[in-house]
Amino acid sequence: MTASVTVRVPAKVNVQLAVGGLRPDGFHDLANVFLAVGLYDEVTVAPADELRVTCTGPDAGQVPLDRTNLAARAALALAERHGRDGRGGGGGVVGGVHIHIDKDIPVAGGMAGGSADGAGALLACDALWGTGASREELLEICAELGSDVPFSLVGGAALGRGRGELLTPLEVGGTFHWVFAVADGGLSTPAVYAECDRLRETSGTGAGVADVPDPEASAALLDALRTGDAAALAAAVSNDLQAAAVSLRPSLAATLAAGTEAGALAAMVSGSGPTTAFLVTDEAEAAKVADALRASGTCRSVRVTSGPAAGATVLRGSN
Ligand code: C5P
Repeated sequence: MTASVTVRVPAKVNVQLAVGGLRPDGFHDLANVFLAVGLYDEVTVAPADELRVTCTGPDAGQVPLDRTNLAARAALALAERHGRDGRGGGGGVVGGVHIHIDKDIPVAGGMAGGSADGAGALLACDALWGTGASREELLEICAELGSDVPFSLVGGAALGRGRGELLTPLEVGGTFHWVFAVADGGLSTPAVYAECDRLRETSGTGAGVADVPDPEASAALLDALRTGDAAALAAAVSNDLQAAAVSLRPSLAATLAAGTEAGALAAMVSGSGPTTAFLVTDEAEAAKVADALRASGTCRSVRVTSGPAAGATVLRGSN
């Protein structure tokens, strides 16, 4: 019998991304308010002789299929912790696993697509291998894999402290409608953080932990999430990486302007970009803003969705 497990994992947008100073370890403390949205990758794992990653979807060509892929790293991390040798072969030994990613989340777009695949592969391998890892252990492995990976597992809405991995779930009192404009090509997250530091240095404020105030979640923003008030959320959204992303990719300014002119309540860069996110009142407004963005010629493609969305979820499993 062929055993396989499929997990569905959402993308995210950061409705607030407050970035503290550069820490000695190269990371930045954050107040990072994540909202999962309904664009999904599906990760399917099945036993194989060796570790193998394949990917389908419009942007599949941009996804690394070697052991730098977060999905591969997640499988190896789980295998290592549970005493498997990582070489595959007899007895269903792990490391020997075929991970297939059906990718719908923009690649290197600031929507946590790679993190989603890491969280998805982890949950899928746990189910396939019957590892029985606790939620705490899965979250710990996620945090080792990357700052955004724990949120991909959890979904919904959450405040991320530390480098973004220390999560507090947030209450959300309604559905928020979004339009995303996908840019041509990706942006490297470390490069965007480095640009943020550079802009802080050149503006004279300094970029270190002693120079930058501790990042704090906005009370108005958390209230807006809790009450489901899109206009109030729009007034409170902020992204400290936006200036850096636009500095590295100046064409994003035209995309943001096109969405604003079309009537979006808020226009912002999603995370480290270059995807841009537009908060709208309802589905009809979403269609209008999406049409205007398509017509503007300032982006590669446009996606309409809403949040919050559930975290990593097992869709199908047989073993
Ligand atoms: O944790 P992750 O691997 O996703 O981080 C990628 C890079 O993004 C880090 O190496 C660092 O340059 C930057 N980063 C940061 N502060 C954070 C999260 C990420 O500087 N809180």
